[in-house]
Amino acid sequence: MSKPFISVEGAQRQYQVKRGLFGRGKTLHAVAGVSFDVPEGSTFGLVGESGSGKSTLARLVLAAEPVSGGSIRVGEHQLAGLQGARRKAFHRTVQPVLQDPYSSLSPQMRIADIIGEPLRVHGLAQRSEVLAKAEELLTLVGLAPEMARRHPHELSGGQRQRVAIARALGLQPQALVLDEPVSALDVSIQAQILNLLKDLQRARGLTYLLISHDLAVVAYMSDQVGVLYLGEFMELGTREDVVGRARHPYTRALIASSESRVESAPTAMADIPSPIDLPGGCRFQSRCPHATARCAAERPLLRPVGEAHWIACHYDIGGTAGTAADAPAGLAQGRPSAAAPRQRAPATAEATLR
Ligand SMILES: Nc1ncnc2c1ncn2[C@@H]1O[C@H](COP(=O)(O)OP(=O)(O)OP(=O)(O)O)[C@@H](O)[C@H]1O
Ligand code: SF4
Ligand SMILES: [Mg+2]
Repeated sequence: MSKPFISVEGAQRQYQVKRGLFGRGKTLHAVAGVSFDVPEGSTFGLVGESGSGKSTLARLVLAAEPVSGGSIRVGEHQLAGLQGARRKAFHRTVQPVLQDPYSSLSPQMRIADIIGEPLRVHGLAQRSEVLAKAEELLTLVGLAPEMARRHPHELSGGQRQRVAIARALGLQPQALVLDEPVSALDVSIQAQILNLLKDLQRARGLTYLLISHDLAVVAYMSDQVGVLYLGEFMELGTREDVVGRARHPYTRALIASSESRVESAPTAMADIPSPIDLPGGCRFQSRCPHATARCAAERPLLRPVGEAHWIACHYDIGGTAGTAADAPAGLAQGRPSAAAPRQRAPATAEATLR
């Protein structure tokens, strides 16, 4: 088992928000205490609907924002209080690749300068060396070296995303945070970019935190999967367990929705509630077709349902345990929580399927 390269322990991020001009300040819990490890050289896929906290968690791992609680380590770097030279070194360790390559690439700059900018900031290339280095990186991501002289508007969406990946790789990071890296691309181009990312990972031993609202993308790429809902994990485990043997009603609804099995999706796929003033009990109760009185009264903690598989549900719709007295037909009772009260996923072995 590889050691964790990214380790997230009870991470929280809250924002103070105001409703209306004279409204009282409220607390929005964007990330509400999540824990997971990403073994070196593997991919952790974060999936969830819009507003579930995926990008906020990405910003925390990139140290673009501080945690409100908990801690994060990336490689040798504890992210709390990173300043100066330590912060600069951290940025060479992990780089972002974002959804919209057009807005993340400056339109006036030549591709060579876009790729060369971080190299110069980090003292890895002189001005005279930038063109050659950019051409090398363009070749690495499958583009013709002469693209270095073009501007972003002269490239297709897929080519721009390759440039964004080349720019990120210039600093020779050990990890990439990929926030919806193919969402803005045509379906036909998406697989090309995902395969490029897989090839680069194999060749360079990269660790990925991959974010997508698209379960198919996460299933294709990931060794481990975390299903985020209103800032908390609903299900966590290997790709085979979470996508292939989903045990949480929310994950099952996401799968049904992605397979267009609409008959099982509508309740669960109604609008996501506001992360301000969340009710007690289960976060998913307002949309769960299986909710009981217990779900409104008692918050389910993440608990193990397999060797490396956790769900936050009082019941176990995919399990075989006896049915609870208060559980609707078809629901097996959840076993008592053996997990600590905080959410914690020990590092799991890299999945064999790729
Ligand atoms: N700076 C901020 N101030 C206040 N609220 C914020 C801020 N950033 C994010 N939020 C809120 O935090 C919640 C999570 O947002 P986030 O962008 O992380 O979700 P997401 O899962 O990435 O969604 P999407 O799929 O739409 O990108 C949302 O309710 C959002 O409105
Ligand atoms: S705890 Fe209850 S409301 Fe929450 S997912 Fe499980 S059955 Fe649904
Ligand atoms: Mg986002």
